[in-house]
Amino acid sequence: MPTSYAFLCARDEASKEYDRLKHEGLLNSDLKPMPYGEHIAIPVKVGELELEFQTVERNNPHDALKEILPNPPKKWERLGDMVIFQQGTDTTNWPLAEVTAALNCNRVAIQNEIDSDITRKSQLELVHGKDGWVVHRENFVDYEFDATQVMFSSGNVTERRRMGELQTKGEIIVDAFCGIGYYTLQFLVRGEAEHVHACEINPESIFALKKGLERNGVSENCTIYPGDNRQTMKGLQGIADRVILGLIPSSMNAWGLAIRCLKKSGGMLHIHMNVHENEIEKWVEKTTEWFATASGKTATASHVETVKKYSPHIMHVVLDLRID
Ligand SMILES: C[S@@+](CC[C@H](N)C(=O)[O-])C[C@H]1O[C@@H](n2cnc3c(N)ncnc32)[C@H](O)[C@@H]1O
Repeated sequence: MPTSYAFLCARDEASKEYDRLKHEGLLNSDLKPMPYGEHIAIPVKVGELELEFQTVERNNPHDALKEILPNPPKKWERLGDMVIFQQGTDTTNWPLAEVTAALNCNRVAIQNEIDSDITRKSQLELVHGKDGWVVHRENFVDYEFDATQVMFSSGNVTERRRMGELQTKGEIIVDAFCGIGYYTLQFLVRGEAEHVHACEINPESIFALKKGLERNGVSENCTIYPGDNRQTMKGLQGIADRVILGLIPSSMNAWGLAIRCLKKSGGMLHIHMNVHENEIEKWVEKTTEWFATASGKTATASHVETVKKYSPHIMHVVLDLRID
């Protein structure tokens, strides 16, 4: 492995420092940043400490696929060492061992629809490889889960990053639909939240969340509440600085309970919803009004984040709503 000078920084500073070093022209962008004890080592052009780093692969994987397949797909997702092709991709006659070598992965899967029931179970079909368990590093957090059992929406990457970059140091947070810890882990690892109370109904996701908490060294800062949050959130009244309502198409069933979870002094809500692209403004207005009436307090919309296009004309949005 090639060596390079390394700049060491705290994990929660790594993203900011990476951008700064890049901006200042000091980054060695041919090499990959990596964990180094409690720190993250970022490869830089000048410094005192020299370390071995892995190289960033720059060969064009699509060109490599063209040499193996007559009509190779142009798009795919990567979760850990698994590559996932879009729904409908026919891999029947593919030399899968060669495909994995070309894409530098170990497993291949095909995406299907996410289950429409409340657990949002993954419908991913593994076509090469033994099992679906992946360790996926994103935004300096390690997520681990069985990709054939639970969903991990790559389209929500910007929202995961945004949550990790909020000022949440010392906060108590309720994550009402925590899944495998998409936001919970960001708050604990990057945001240094004091504690996350994480509600989840799907046992497969809970299993994965526990593994993720252990891997990131933050198990002690999270309490998991298995089961339906319409029951579990009742036990979390008056404790939270922030509540995450991360369920689409709608998290409305938990809105009343979310208000009750906030501290008496109020706090912040992050309300996810699928909304028609022409009706976002109206939805924000109505939702703000609803929360003001239901809480008997002031509700102030501080930001509306468009996460992704969910389907034609339907946007997955998040309203940041302050209740005082
Ligand atoms: C859509 S996932 C979260 C995905 C995450 N926002 C992302 O896109 O990466 C929502 C999670 O809420 C859980 N869930 C749905 N209804 C629930 C309920 N009533 N109580 C607790 N958990 C629930 C599901 O099992 C699922 O893991």
